[in-house]
Amino acid sequence: MSQLIFSVLIISGIGALFALLLELADTFIANYGECHISINREKDLVVQGGNPLLFSLMEEGIYIPSACGGKGTCAYCKVKVLEGGGPILPTETPYLTEEEQAEDVRLSCQVKVRNDLVIELPAELFLIKEFKVKVDRIVDLTPSIKGVTLGILSPEEGISFKPGQYIQLEIPKYKLSKEPEYRAFSMSSSSKDAHSVELYIGLVEKGVVSTYVHEYLKEAEELTMRGPFGGFYYHDSDRDILLIATGTGLAPIMSILRHMRSEQIQRKTTLFFGTRTQENLYCVEELREMEKQLPAFTFIPTLSRETEDTQWEGKRGRVTDLIEDLISEGADYDVYICGNPDMVDSCTDRFLGKGIPEDQIYFDKFS
Ligand SMILES: Cc1cc2nc3c(=O)[nH]c(=O)nc-3n(C[C@H](O)[C@H](O)[C@H](O)COP(=O)(O)OP(=O)(O)OC[C@H]3O[C@@H](n4cnc5c(N)ncnc54)[C@H](O)[C@@H]3O)c2cc1C
Ligand code: FES
Repeated sequence: MSQLIFSVLIISGIGALFALLLELADTFIANYGECHISINREKDLVVQGGNPLLFSLMEEGIYIPSACGGKGTCAYCKVKVLEGGGPILPTETPYLTEEEQAEDVRLSCQVKVRNDLVIELPAELFLIKEFKVKVDRIVDLTPSIKGVTLGILSPEEGISFKPGQYIQLEIPKYKLSKEPEYRAFSMSSSSKDAHSVELYIGLVEKGVVSTYVHEYLKEAEELTMRGPFGGFYYHDSDRDILLIATGTGLAPIMSILRHMRSEQIQRKTTLFFGTRTQENLYCVEELREMEKQLPAFTFIPTLSRETEDTQWEGKRGRVTDLIEDLISEGADYDVYICGNPDMVDSCTDRFLGKGIPEDQIYFDKFS
């Protein structure tokens, strides 16, 4: 038995070494020369081969959605590679359904440009731009969330986005990163303001970008951001609205609410905002003020770990359980959910269970 385990280990070791050598040879020796990328069989780009498709397109000013910075973990960077992409890699298969695989959908951060490619991109991706921004303000919203306001320096016309969408913020290389890194952050500001965006950035333990923002970022520093991205945004309809947020998931919800306030949209709207304790709550004053400015709006914070001996008179418990208790079966709502993936999944299941159709449930998972 031990001989068998030993043999398996030796074979796996040789396999891993071989793969590493191939990767090193690919990086340092292979020269793919110039490659053509045909987009929608209309536009032709000439790029230097050898880089992931995501970054080759980025260098040409075409920005594919991406939340993980090209690490192959967010699955936001899907594009159709009709010709030249080679076989689907093991790093891609967990993120692609059988249907997507049959339709030549690939993770663009995993497909290397080694030869000419034919790809298909939706027209709206051509509207995404790169911006130079300056940090105008950094504030502590809670012990672990900073509010960061970025003034747009260029292009002059600023950003046009739908309330709820996100940008990619790029930070320079520093102690925790070998190269500039970017991550997705939702805009919390009103889409009326094209020249300044506000972000709520939570500190993630050992997280590269969030640590930079919390420990190194200074006012007046200049950065790069790209956007707008994402299908999570406010949709017009006559239905009542339920907004569900935990932690920094409040960011896109604030953008939606600020849009509703500036447009005086009087749809019956309830926000359930879940945090652990009172010290993790933020934007409370503005949300209470909004209840006066938008009479059909109700704000319900709920705390999951507030101890019984404190002054808190509001709701206690997880936001998911609150929904179970307060939302009646068969009610018709547009629902917007934003926060950690587990919360989004369990809230979605509860709403589906209460008969709310899938196409009325919008969500963003902050993975
Ligand atoms: C659409 C969208 C919108 C978002 N909006 C927001 C927002 O408004 N506000 C917000 O705060 N966040 C938002 N996020 C999340 C954000 O994009 C980042 O994922 C988050 O800030 C963490 O990034 P980071 O670089 O700090 O962490 P990362 O460096 O990406 O690390 C993430 C986790 O992996 C661990 N890790 C990293 N490297 C290693 C390693 N080598 N080995 C083991 N573990 C490792 C880290 O410890 C950490 O726990 C959003 C995400 C999405 C998808
Ligand atoms: S960029 Fe995140 S999976 Fe490709």
